[in-house]
Amino acid sequence: KYAQSAQSGPLRDRIATGGKHQLLSVDQFTRETVEELCSLADIMQPIARRQKVSRVLEGAVLGNLFFEASTRTRVSFGSAFCRLGGSVCDTTGFTFSSMAKGESIYDTSRVMSGYVDAMVIRHPEQGSVAEFARATNIPVVNGGDGAGEHPSQALLDLYTISTEFSRLGKLLDGAHIALVGDLKYGRTVHSLIKLLGMYRGLKFTLISPPGLEMPEHIVEQVAKQGKHVIEQTSSLEKGLPGVDVIYATRVQKERFEEGQDGSFTADFQVNKAIIDRCCGPDVIVMHPLPRDSREGAHDLSVDLNHDPRLAIFRQADNGIPVRMAIFAVLLGVETLVQHSMRDV
Ligand code: CP
Repeated sequence: KYAQSAQSGPLRDRIATGGKHQLLSVDQFTRETVEELCSLADIMQPIARRQKVSRVLEGAVLGNLFFEASTRTRVSFGSAFCRLGGSVCDTTGFTFSSMAKGESIYDTSRVMSGYVDAMVIRHPEQGSVAEFARATNIPVVNGGDGAGEHPSQALLDLYTISTEFSRLGKLLDGAHIALVGDLKYGRTVHSLIKLLGMYRGLKFTLISPPGLEMPEHIVEQVAKQGKHVIEQTSSLEKGLPGVDVIYATRVQKERFEEGQDGSFTADFQVNKAIIDRCCGPDVIVMHPLPRDSREGAHDLSVDLNHDPRLAIFRQADNGIPVRMAIFAVLLGVETLVQHSMRDV
């Protein structure tokens, strides 16, 4: 499939935006190009599983610039780059970068361009990663910009749904997906619903506490994408029956406006009791992580940890092959990967 699609020209040219090889938004993709990226992630799996090695990015340096907290995105992008033979330079938080001394995004980006071959950036302000990208010609990847987008997370989420559905003999067209939790500030769901909207005839049930609903402009964009049914509710009991996928998210209190009320009931906790009551044995439970395990948090419960329906750790593992595929595409080495692979 990947070789067939590659006949249409390099994937990086077909997903380019502003004439540049960068990944800022899932809007750069079509169903065809997203499936091509997933096929490339399949090719990367033996490397991610430490069965094969590749040095296809030997000599290349990644700049990992994270101005907001992260574990998975920062480490898995770094690990993906290293597993392809490259090396990584990190900066974490404003305090330890010269932005603390008033340096602009433009200057930071221009300077970094002379030091590294690609950058992954996480920043608390929506649109800021695009500003980094405008200042440079090296590939820039959006690792999460405020409440904006998190495209690599959505790509690995789609890859996870696709691989879980293959295992269960299900198709994505016509699937019923529940997005649960903070759909207002959760950037992963903003990106994921747009990617899923590229498929046909889906039913989306959007379950959020009052005041944390999916932004209207995203709902409208997805409604225009295809013949989807989109329902919104604030009740898990009403929303979960019949779903194929539950995608839970953390309430992002750090993005709340001054004085915004964050006190809702425990009804938003996805736990074993409600899944046993409302869903079948084939439901897939996902979460981008981190889940909030503090006392009183209404996040995905740990009582599902040994339940095979819980896909969160398989989902997190998929971050490596999908992010390898992203680098291979943006750095133009995707056709070299297979030839470069050798046994461990
Ligand atoms: N899913 C995700 O973005 O996790 P981190 O915040 O740990 O990177």
